[in-house]
Amino acid sequence: MDADPYERFAERYDWFYESYAEHDPRKVEFFRDLLTQYQIQSVLDCACGTGRDLHLLHSLGAEVFGSDRSVAMLAQAERNLATHHIDVPLDCVDYRELHLHYAREFDAVVCLSSSICEMPEHSDVIQAFASMRNVLRDGGILVVSSGISDMTWRQKPRFIPEVWNESFRRLFLVDYIDEGVRFNVIDVHRNPDRKRNESWTITYNRVYLRGDMERALTATRFRKCTFYGDYLFEPYDSATSGMLIAVAEK
Ligand SMILES: C[S@@+](CC[C@H](N)C(=O)[O-])C[C@H]1O[C@@H](n2cnc3c(N)ncnc32)[C@H](O)[C@@H]1O
Repeated sequence: MDADPYERFAERYDWFYESYAEHDPRKVEFFRDLLTQYQIQSVLDCACGTGRDLHLLHSLGAEVFGSDRSVAMLAQAERNLATHHIDVPLDCVDYRELHLHYAREFDAVVCLSSSICEMPEHSDVIQAFASMRNVLRDGGILVVSSGISDMTWRQKPRFIPEVWNESFRRLFLVDYIDEGVRFNVIDVHRNPDRKRNESWTITYNRVYLRGDMERALTATRFRKCTFYGDYLFEPYDSATSGMLIAVAEK
């Protein structure tokens, strides 16, 4: 990787959420169900970012491991988890090369919040899924989620208010470029003497929708893939689902 796109953003990343340790109850129940259903004890979050999902999975009793290719995001994860007195092994690894780094298998691997869309080409997604499968035990699961669904891709919203409260606003200004998309993240503080306003940009060369994910998961020999449109286990509907969650079994 040339430069770390998250270097300037890692310290502000968690401003998406009011609290690091409070999670969407639907997401908590979703993972609680999966952990029970597939008898999962160990989980690798292979694009762990600042570690929020490590916190969530740890709170459900899983033995958690985090990896990411961004040094800045891992440093923030380390600070966050230390604040909550959670000791998690964190490693700087590209998720296309997990099998070169880990000499063990996990019961589950997760790759959440559109992290897979950072792959420049379809061939990279296949490489990534193959590597994720490689570090899974037989019968283990891969969970991939993306905020870009077939519906949102069709609708192409230009302005997305991500956080909108009295003191702070975070707006996504979205540019659609051929098969890809650029998220311009605008942070506005309403109290003028607190912090100056800032922006940050991330570009995905391509987006990967349900069909792309299914092809890549099948090509990498996952046995069964189920697609959900939310954390309530609603089946994915390309006409109406606002997010995409794939659960694939090895
Ligand atoms: C949008 S953030 C999501 C972070 C976290 N999963 C969450 O839900 O908050 C995307 C993360 O994916 C990581 N990432 C992107 N490409 C990666 C790769 N090839 N290998 C490992 N991590 C990667 C980025 O560094 C970043 O931390």
